[in-house]
Amino acid sequence: MSGDKKDLRPLEGITPPKIFDELRRGVLGQNGALRYVSVAVYKHTTGKVPGNILLIGNSGTGKTTIMNNIQRMYHDVEEYRPFRAMTIINANLLVDAERLEFQPERLLAAVEQRARALVGSNPSPEELKETMERATVCIDEIDKMSSIVAGKPNPIGVVLQQGLLTLMEGEVVTYKTYASTNGEEKPVTLNIDTRHMMFICGGAFEGLYDQVYLRVINPASGEKMKSQAVQMADGQVRIETRFALIDFLKPEDLFEYGMVPQFMARFDNVVLLRDLDVAVLKSILLESLDSPFVRSKSFFEVMDIELEMEDVAASTIAEAAEKNIRTGARALRTVFNKIINPLEYDPWQHEGLEKKPDGGHKLVVTAEMARRVTAPSSG
Ligand SMILES: Nc1ncnc2c1ncn2[C@@H]1O[C@H](COP(=O)(O)OP(=O)(O)O)[C@@H](O)[C@H]1O
Ligand SMILES: [Mg+2]
Repeated sequence: MSGDKKDLRPLEGITPPKIFDELRRGVLGQNGALRYVSVAVYKHTTGKVPGNILLIGNSGTGKTTIMNNIQRMYHDVEEYRPFRAMTIINANLLVDAERLEFQPERLLAAVEQRARALVGSNPSPEELKETMERATVCIDEIDKMSSIVAGKPNPIGVVLQQGLLTLMEGEVVTYKTYASTNGEEKPVTLNIDTRHMMFICGGAFEGLYDQVYLRVINPASGEKMKSQAVQMADGQVRIETRFALIDFLKPEDLFEYGMVPQFMARFDNVVLLRDLDVAVLKSILLESLDSPFVRSKSFFEVMDIELEMEDVAASTIAEAAEKNIRTGARALRTVFNKIINPLEYDPWQHEGLEKKPDGGHKLVVTAEMARRVTAPSSG
């Protein structure tokens, strides 16, 4: 990349499909969700009102990964330089639990820090304000801020949702900081207009899954679940009836869960992430940007050891991860680490280490190794 201005495309030229392709390098099996995200990013970066997004998906399906990949894309794509003031913050950090107060300053301080890193030293108040107003703000674990937790009212949640809702409405927030005027650092008060910020919130909404499931299986509900054929690693096909939240979720379910209706109204799209099936988990293991296998491969490369994995080994790991429905792709790393840790510790003592004709070495993760750590008795 030359960084030459004349090489830069107009932002309108980076269309939603191009954004989608870029995000998909790191986020697999969530194409539906990524399409919504791509459109929102496109609107945001071309100066339109982006439309805020709420991401809902079981743990380990890629919510935080989507946020991280937007951030990665802003950094990889030179044209997005003006938009790099992005922050990912946990919802619980935005309320003072003792005083029951919404604290937008914490969010703005995180945005400011990014903005400063972007515009360099001694920014003018205008530079700082403009950069902050273009921010992408991701608020993670939003479900922990439900107005009801374990059947009891959760006042912090109400405070947070109410605070965020006014912020997302396009408020002008006063923010005190320092900036450079006439070459001198001085305290300034910035009026930050949040209208052009993009907000992406995410949460697992764990109880929501059971709540909607119970509504759906109630014969009086009139809802019907779908069956699908699932192919196993050994080639067998099983018919499974699967409950997918995506097929049944209604706005009322979220209100019942404890989300304030006016807060929900600030989101243009409630986007549901799918539970990842074996095929997707396998490709996350083998080829995602953050693939544990690829990471380990480069670890061994330094020692001139080529790491390989038998196809059945990868399938076995993916199947074991899929059984852990509540941890999603996180389980891939756990299972894979059980196999790879002893090898990374001391590959030279391993009986599977082969010498290659060119002088280097080769190590293969075999189906047998995968079976050993995924067998029910191995814990
Ligand atoms: N859809 C996905 N595509 C690629 N990797 C994923 C995906 N979902 C989860 N992962 C991997 O699993 C781990 C946990 O994912 P994360 O996005 O943090 O889950 P959560 O939905 O709970 O926020 C990460 O290491 C990530 O690399
Ligand atoms: Mg997460």
